[in-house]
Amino acid sequence: MSADRPRPLVAGNWKMHGLKSSVQVLHALAVGYPPELKAKVDLLVCPPATLIHAFALQAHGSDIAIGAQDAHAEASGAYTGNVSAEMLADLGATHVIVGHSERRAYHRETDAEVRAKAEAARRAGLTAIVCVGETREERESERALDVVRAQMRGSVPEGMDASRLMIAYEPVWAIGTGLTPTPADVAEVHTLIREEAGTLVGAAEQGRVRILYGGSVKPANAKELLAVENVDGALVGGASLVATDFLGIARAYLD
Ligand code: PGA
Repeated sequence: MSADRPRPLVAGNWKMHGLKSSVQVLHALAVGYPPELKAKVDLLVCPPATLIHAFALQAHGSDIAIGAQDAHAEASGAYTGNVSAEMLADLGATHVIVGHSERRAYHRETDAEVRAKAEAARRAGLTAIVCVGETREERESERALDVVRAQMRGSVPEGMDASRLMIAYEPVWAIGTGLTPTPADVAEVHTLIREEAGTLVGAAEQGRVRILYGGSVKPANAKELLAVENVDGALVGGASLVATDFLGIARAYLD
């Protein structure tokens, strides 16, 4: 890893899982995150909004960051049921995932909406993790690169601070399926994302944008996926709910 490359990050997306009692998982993560691991990799946990405050309190002093899974584009207003980026920051979140494929699919979020949410993250001082990725049909028809390029251009605002912007490449067909792309396919897409990031944040800063891979990352495949060029970490769903699995992924950076 060259000097100007970002520190790796392993992020957990808990999706709609977890109750108050789940703070014990955070305790286990803190215990399993000793100085030698901290020296190699940052950790982020994104629980449901209901748990952000409790997790932020529990994580205090552990060097584990807490993030959210979505934010409304507006700071406040008549938007029943929604939560703003400012509210998430107020609870102790430092990061927010935007444009996850489950939100694009089930909530019909468009690139323009995702971009507005990333702008809201910037406004609130949160790091935005913008998700992109092709469907199985798009991969099979060899349109993966075109789809990801279009999502990058449509979903990521220009002029973001590179240190406050992450892109997560999550092929939709790899999420929760146990399937993963080949390292060569991951490298190809991440290289494209790095290039596109350059046009958005400037060539001098593009190396500072963290590009995460997500989709069926497990302790057993983490080493291979995280070693791929331009992969600066992982966005982990299912395996992030179990402390030993999540730490097992992070420990791929130990040797
Ligand atoms: P998975 O989910 O690790 O369970 O495949 C990844 C994600 O949706 O972020």
